[in-house]
Amino acid sequence: DSDLSFDPGLEHVLAGETRLSTIDGEAGELVIGGFPLEELAPNATYEEALYLLWNDRLPTEEELSTFRSDLAAHRDLSDGALAAIREAAERRDDAMDAERIGAACASLARPAEEDTDGEVTTHERDAMVAVAQLPTAVAAYWRVANGEEPVAPRDDLTHAANYLWMLTGEEPTDEQVRGLETYLCSVIDHGFNASTYTARVVASTESDVLSAVTGAVGALKGPLHGGAPGPVLDMLEEIADHGDPQTWLTDRLDAGERLMGFGHRVYRVRDPRAAVLSEAAEEFYAGEESAFFDLARDVESAAVSVLDERKPGRSLETNVEFYTAVLLRGVGVPRELFSATFGVSRVGGWTAHCLEQYADNRIVRPRSRYVGETGRTWTPVGER
Ligand code: CMC
Repeated sequence: DSDLSFDPGLEHVLAGETRLSTIDGEAGELVIGGFPLEELAPNATYEEALYLLWNDRLPTEEELSTFRSDLAAHRDLSDGALAAIREAAERRDDAMDAERIGAACASLARPAEEDTDGEVTTHERDAMVAVAQLPTAVAAYWRVANGEEPVAPRDDLTHAANYLWMLTGEEPTDEQVRGLETYLCSVIDHGFNASTYTARVVASTESDVLSAVTGAVGALKGPLHGGAPGPVLDMLEEIADHGDPQTWLTDRLDAGERLMGFGHRVYRVRDPRAAVLSEAAEEFYAGEESAFFDLARDVESAAVSVLDERKPGRSLETNVEFYTAVLLRGVGVPRELFSATFGVSRVGGWTAHCLEQYADNRIVRPRSRYVGETGRTWTPVGER
């Protein structure tokens, strides 16, 4: 293996081909299903973006309506999933744990083999089940965690509207729904990020979509990936109390911490999703609330300049998570659910990547460089 090149984090490795999305990290451009992000995210509903990823084209009105009802038909959790989610919520486990339970238990909600009509493949049906189940799992967790009963999903609401409905038991406003649609469509897919690649690795063994999604939720949970937006909001709230962004940020960096919501493996400029999300977020911060949006803007510019002093030439700019926090706060999604809501969207990308992987598969199996000992001799346990 000595002639193979070693690239920690696979930063410069092209690990596959995809038609789903592409990123230009120098220009700050993101294309999803052929659409520039700025064209897709403010216009599409989540169902349209999902259909686009699964079928490589937008649905007609009739196709969209059938697709919506197919998806809505898989929303109810199984009794087993609900029981496990209740337990997670009562233990005050993280929402991502509940989402992972939701993914793992989604197999209990898929139709039994004899009930399927044979018209769709198992992988496509599982993809539908995964996307439909995660929001119900997250919302049920949230209700129970707050001492309330889960709110049953409604099949007359869109995917985004139903999620907000299940969280609150109240019909969301059109503005809330549009804000959430824009978020869900902005983050639905993003190249071979860690969770998506996890899903593809699992799918490459010809395992099923629900197993791939379960692994992907695990990868998304980490603070270096999807775990950042909650801490971003904590940061903004702490800075609001503290008063001076510059000093607060400098203190954190002096303490050896990373600033959540900044830096990216691929982007060397501002993440294009930051612009789309901040524009959508601004709608929610009128009047008295505008102070919070202004604070976010100030923190962004202070952080970018502080990071530039610390890491000149590295270009640590705002990533997707910064304005995710601001937008989701505006929409009314609780801070504790930010990462899980990222999963509610990204499951669309994960499933699309699984379908793409199955269609042209080669099992993922890279090499490793051995840096351990060799030639050890065995010492019996009593002599060590
Ligand atoms: N705050 C402070 N320093 C940073 C930051 C940051 N946010 N990001 C990178 N650096 C430093 C880092 O410490 C490193 O310094 P050194 O060379 O002295 O060790 C240098 O910049 C280069 O960083 P890196 O570790 O090579 O960058 P990476 O490509 O491995 O990591 C990242 C990318 C997103 C994990 C990282 O920027 C980070 O930890 N950001 C904060 C967490 C965050 O916002 N995560 C959300 C990621 S975007 C959405 C997603 O993927 O879900």
